[in-house]
Amino acid sequence: PEPQIIDSFGREHTYLRISLTDRCNLRCFYCMPEEGIELTDKENVMTLEEIVAISKTFTKLGVDTIRLTGGEPLIRNNFEFLARELAKLGVTLKLTTNGIVLNKHFELFQEIGLKRINISLDTLDKAKSVFIAKRDYFDRIMDNIKQAIAYDFDIKLNIVLIKGVNDMEINDFIALTEDQNIGVKFIEFMPFKGNEWDWDKGISKEEILKTVRSKYSEIEKLEDPEHSTSANYKVKGFKGSFGIVSTITNPFCAGCNRIRLTADGNMKNCLFATAETDLLTPFRNGEAIDEIILDAIKDKKFSRDGMDVEMKKEHYEQNRSMTSIGG
Ligand code: GTP
Ligand code: 5AD
Ligand code: SF4
Repeated sequence: PEPQIIDSFGREHTYLRISLTDRCNLRCFYCMPEEGIELTDKENVMTLEEIVAISKTFTKLGVDTIRLTGGEPLIRNNFEFLARELAKLGVTLKLTTNGIVLNKHFELFQEIGLKRINISLDTLDKAKSVFIAKRDYFDRIMDNIKQAIAYDFDIKLNIVLIKGVNDMEINDFIALTEDQNIGVKFIEFMPFKGNEWDWDKGISKEEILKTVRSKYSEIEKLEDPEHSTSANYKVKGFKGSFGIVSTITNPFCAGCNRIRLTADGNMKNCLFATAETDLLTPFRNGEAIDEIILDAIKDKKFSRDGMDVEMKKEHYEQNRSMTSIGG
């Protein structure tokens, strides 16, 4: 179907990110508040059938790509059933995961053609991973990443850079791209409810490039795919590539084509949107949600939900925690 979810700036929304659960088996400090979050009661979480039906409506309105996120999407009960049903909708299915239980699903992903898997991996150091995530799954995650590469999935590693924590590892991550055809994606630290964001702890796109150039003199700019969140590069002669997601210093909102659906069935027209549109209640009441979606996109602001110039605490503290948005 033709793209119909069009905002007041003419941007066509063809990419849906669905958070399958707000639960996670890690506790990364940049994602979840220290005290945790109030988890959604089961009766308020979309059932798998509801996710499929609501997704179907989105596809009728022109969505052709769905990325599954969380919390941690792979801990959702009956994930396999859901993935199969969504694959039947004919969309390009993608996944963002922490990698802990990834190995359980390799055959399924091959079967349904889910190729693009982004895995959070903030450090190559086991002790540091425990400091960041407050849980020790490092060896399992590393092993699953190796297996995923061997299976030939299209793998990108997500690295949220925090000053003094993992910024000294930038070139270690770049080194992974020398002999392996993978992407490493450096992400500027972003503000959400309760994550004690302070841009002084962040590392900018410019600083990242400077660090990479200090070790690797020949860096090529790659052509970025349409609607890409990252600016992409490679070290000359390396098999893999690297990207930088610069929401803070270089927002890329002009090309935004994304809508989000939270596990409790709320549509967010921006990652930073504080106002949400409940789709689940009308869906359960048997109402058509098409018009609700088409209306909700009209309120989308041009950039960062209106935080065009700077990130404002009184605004982002009204948003959810990242762990219940899914990125
Ligand atoms: P690709 O499809 O591989 O480009 O992945 P992605 O970057 O779109 O998604 P992923 O789930 O790997 O997220 C990586 C980082 O990009 C996370 O920090 C997300 O929050 C961020 N991100 C994803 N989509 C958007 C977006 O629309 N706007 C902004 N500002 N950041 C986004
Ligand atoms: N800032 C930037 N990126 C974040 N992620 C989680 N929290 C933040 C944050 N505060 C990223 C993780 C995960 C992706 C979905 O979002 O890298 O892989
Ligand atoms: Fe789109 Fe909002 Fe991300 Fe900008 S910040 S790219 S408008 S989701």
